[in-house]
Amino acid sequence: ISPATIERMEACCIIPVITIHNVKHAVPLAKALIAGGVDVLEVTLRTDCALDAIQEMKQAKLDALIGAGTITTEAQVNSAANAGAEFLVTPGTPASLLPALMAFDGAVFPGCSTVSESLALRSAGFSVQKFFPAEPAGGSKFLKALGGPVPDVHFMPTGGISMGNARQYLDLPNVIAVGGSWIVPNELIENGEWDVIALLAKESREELQSD
Ligand code: 3PG
Repeated sequence: ISPATIERMEACCIIPVITIHNVKHAVPLAKALIAGGVDVLEVTLRTDCALDAIQEMKQAKLDALIGAGTITTEAQVNSAANAGAEFLVTPGTPASLLPALMAFDGAVFPGCSTVSESLALRSAGFSVQKFFPAEPAGGSKFLKALGGPVPDVHFMPTGGISMGNARQYLDLPNVIAVGGSWIVPNELIENGEWDVIALLAKESREELQSD
């Protein structure tokens, strides 16, 4: 992962975990988030139109990093790459998925939720990992404890994170950004409340960046 990508994620600090149900929402949603200063966008492959959404966001030439999340198969790695995803995120990372992830031409944040999984990913060359599901798997206390013996692995925790607990994670030296769906409420997307989403992104980011 390039230092520029890490820096961008650190500056963004909240990575929205986006689930698009209607491809028409993709570009307006991305524009709203970018207007709010949130410019690293993870689109989950949980809906039929997810790949089209990624493609449309890419074609709109937005000033953002657009990635694909919920990658669980080699076929999804390939289809995400073909859609133009600049980074990939997995919820968990079986050994069988590693070759495809290692061959991907872009940043990869492989998911893990235990110390052994994290160490296995580090051995495979992945120094920035997704910690998922963050809250049920031990939360910020887990990552703080892991930072002692394994200080060289950094994390993007997601799963159960919101404004109430994001700060606990972002204060840790081994966390580069937090991810979550709370910043992109489905109801606001369905109603096309782009200004509200932009404001939510802006206010959330400002609150989390201030000390
Ligand atoms: C993910 O895929 O990272 C999670 O579904 C996001 O979790 P959240 O919905 O609890 O934020």
